[in-house]
Amino acid sequence: MKEKRKYFMAHRIGVIQRSKIRELFERASKMENVISLGIGEPDFDTPNNIKEAAKRALDEGWTHYTPNAGIPELREAIAEYYKKFYGIDVEVDNVLVTAGAYEATYLAFETMLEQGDEVIIPDPAFVCYVEDAKLAEAKPIRLPLREENDFKPDIDELLERITKRTRMIVINYPNNPTGAVLDKETAKAIADVAEDYNIYILSDEPYEHFLYDDAKHYPMIKFAPDNTILANSFSKTFAMTGWRLGFVIAPTQIIREMIKLHAYIIGNVASFVQVAGIEALRSKESWKAVEEMRKEYNERRKLVLQRLRKMPYIKVREPKGAFYVFPNISETEMSSEEFSEWLLEKAKVVVIPGTAFGENGEGYVRISYATSREKLIEAMDRIEKALEEI
Ligand SMILES: Cc1ncc(COP(=O)(O)O)c(C=O)c1O
Repeated sequence: MKEKRKYFMAHRIGVIQRSKIRELFERASKMENVISLGIGEPDFDTPNNIKEAAKRALDEGWTHYTPNAGIPELREAIAEYYKKFYGIDVEVDNVLVTAGAYEATYLAFETMLEQGDEVIIPDPAFVCYVEDAKLAEAKPIRLPLREENDFKPDIDELLERITKRTRMIVINYPNNPTGAVLDKETAKAIADVAEDYNIYILSDEPYEHFLYDDAKHYPMIKFAPDNTILANSFSKTFAMTGWRLGFVIAPTQIIREMIKLHAYIIGNVASFVQVAGIEALRSKESWKAVEEMRKEYNERRKLVLQRLRKMPYIKVREPKGAFYVFPNISETEMSSEEFSEWLLEKAKVVVIPGTAFGENGEGYVRISYATSREKLIEAMDRIEKALEEI
């Protein structure tokens, strides 16, 4: 369709940016023989018992609208899950079933922030928070995450950024893009700051099950239950990215308001998808699959780290969570973006420039190891060869 006229659209849609990750991915998809370490998506298929549950649900007639907040049994299963895994009491009324963590974070920004409110967003951070802030007409205040501090927030730097307009802080551990995890003391300290200054925490926790060695996860609702909006997802845990299933845990008053917006944009998450979500959470079979995936990710993580450590110009810390490595490439004297483009041209390997996640990502690239070992080995061979020829 050839379009001659120019369409004038709302200002708000003009201020948000397409993700750089997608851009690179689309460019790479037009090239041949490219290995992508770019996309943050499990290469595993959804466990069979979950797929079977969705098929059964369709046959049983789960083809209608459900309550906006989700099927009561799924909300119960989510509450049960927090009790079982973390010993945390969550009531059904604290749970809202969403179309992935993306919708959960969007709802948090729209529900909690007024025009001009300040929201502290780490730098680097996953791409959607800043765009969500812009849509909510809130002001993002970036909090640097430093390699020497294992990409955890520094509490003094956090305190320095708090003003009278600060309403929310975003936390995401295990972290995308750095693979960092949060220790108990720092998690507690952030919770204390939030309580002392009456700030909400949006804690985005979709990688909570991908932890390695001695790493542990502490859901933020454990330490600041009255101030935390927890976003979570089935996408990564159960390799269900395409299903669009996630949830929010928050105080009931907040959930009640979020449901109003959710009801007008989504209505409800697909009914048979929700039924499959109950199976995912309650069946031993799916948790066995999660553990198998975690073990495989761990092997890949070790493989990638071992290879990167031997390469010239590359420095890398050991990440203990998610499925990302965030090596420092500054010795190449290329910027992150130059490095990513150079690597795509020279080695046909996609990595994401650290600056896609904020200015502080300069000097780093994100490598996703959610891809087969064979591909990872081939990609590491190519990267090593390219670096040796600099
Ligand atoms: C930190 C983080 N939050 C949220 C999401 C969105 O996930 P979902 O598929 O649950 O919407 C992602 C996906 O990559 C992510 O990495």
